[in-house]
Amino acid sequence: MVFKLNIPKHVAIIMDGNGRWAEKRGLARSEGHLEGSKTLEKIALHAMDMGVEVLSVYAFSTDNFKRDKKEVDYLMNLIVKYFNTKFEKLNKKGIKVLVSGRTTNLRDDVIEAIKNVQEKTKDNKEGILNICFNYGGQEEIIDASIKLAQDINKGLDITNFTREDFYKYLYHDLPPIDLLIRTGGEQRVSNFMLYELSYSEFYFTNTYFPDFDKSEFNKALFMYENRDRRFGGLNK
Ligand code: IPE
Ligand code: IPE
Ligand code: MG
Repeated sequence: MVFKLNIPKHVAIIMDGNGRWAEKRGLARSEGHLEGSKTLEKIALHAMDMGVEVLSVYAFSTDNFKRDKKEVDYLMNLIVKYFNTKFEKLNKKGIKVLVSGRTTNLRDDVIEAIKNVQEKTKDNKEGILNICFNYGGQEEIIDASIKLAQDINKGLDITNFTREDFYKYLYHDLPPIDLLIRTGGEQRVSNFMLYELSYSEFYFTNTYFPDFDKSEFNKALFMYENRDRRFGGLNK
């Protein structure tokens, strides 16, 4: 008998615990971020191999600007390096890279790297890696509402506007999230994809993100398999 897993179409990960991973080893927090970036590449490739269509990850929140300049600078440099080099492997695998977040207050080289990676991978069809960078869930809803208001001013008829229609105003028109994973032990959403998380299943693990490997990812998939999703209805 062959068992076929019910694979979630859209998985999201709050990649937390990089700093504590490094501190536990007597290393600088930046070492944890570097290690986390390597983990992200492995997990993205694995998720697509497992049949996940969209993987969204929280890489830098709008509130992470509250951290020391040194750490913020390191993370900005890391994303530029990541998009200019690491994405080649993802590109070869046919993965389309999207970036979600505000760009207004980012450095020019960061904005350039974000533009390049999206442009170079835009025709890829094997899966989507959506990197949430300088991202806030409340900010995304505000930005979407502003775009919608502009369309209403231009004459859009909203008489039958649905919650599905609102997705078109978000940073990217992606499917709702089926499974949310948060590493690092905290059991909160912080400011991540608040609109898209409606009805998603949550999986929390104490594992710090740099240690989150394929088998840890598979554990979350097995858990998902046994969840009873009702979407407000009744499964009989
Ligand atoms: C997540 O790891 C990555 C970012 C927020 C950029 P943290 O840096 O939050 O790591 P901890 O939570 O301090 O261990
Ligand atoms: C959430 O982690 C943001 C990212 C993983 C990028 P934080 O470490 O910033 O969240 P809080 O402060 O613990 O809620
Ligand atoms: Mg954290």
